[in-house]
Amino acid sequence: MKGVVFTEFFDMVEASFSPELVERIIDLAELPNQGAYTAVGTYDAGEMVRLVGVLSQETGLAVPDLLFAFGRYLLSRFAEEHGDYFSSAGSVFRLLEGIEDKIHRDVRKLYPDAELPKFECHKPSPERLVLDYSSPRGMAKLAEGLIAASIEHYGEQISLQVEEQAADGTKVRFVLDRWAA
Ligand code: HEM
Repeated sequence: MKGVVFTEFFDMVEASFSPELVERIIDLAELPNQGAYTAVGTYDAGEMVRLVGVLSQETGLAVPDLLFAFGRYLLSRFAEEHGDYFSSAGSVFRLLEGIEDKIHRDVRKLYPDAELPKFECHKPSPERLVLDYSSPRGMAKLAEGLIAASIEHYGEQISLQVEEQAADGTKVRFVLDRWAA
């Protein structure tokens, strides 16, 4: 997992809780590098799982809720840093349909070692988008937070249903229904 994901995670913990808690979870997670991540470096995704686990212990919040919140935070950061993708897509469906072929394709060009999930898209009708997520890292709750925040970003009337297809979060179907305006 790229270091940028870790640095964004620490920023979220600092903003939502405190800088002291960032130090504390780094200590408790007993990371190989004592929490020194560079944005372009690559680290074991298991370190993120450990960090979220200790954050859960320290805050009493459930791991899936923390991952969801992190997904929402990340989307707001992506929208700030990479606004062009959001303005050129112009809608939730077009943004999400372009994750594989536009956004993550560019991420891979920049970081050939990025560990990205797979998204398969289907559009059974103009008002419905089905996204099948799969990833060995099982970050489906993170994906859910990213998708929920994308819907908020555009302010569209879209409902999101989540159909778990594996208990460990490695495969999930997201069904988005756009209501007629
Ligand atoms: C401009 C927008 C976006 C950028 C720049 C971006 C970039 C990235 C980067 C750098 C990673 C980390 C790769 C690694 O750790 O090796 C990542 C992972 C991920 N991205 Fe995106 N992303 C964007 C939008 C989205 C959206 C809209 C979704 C919605 C579903 C999404 C879903 C994910 C997920 C779930 C992961 C975690 C890895 C996994 O599940 O295996 N991304 N993305």
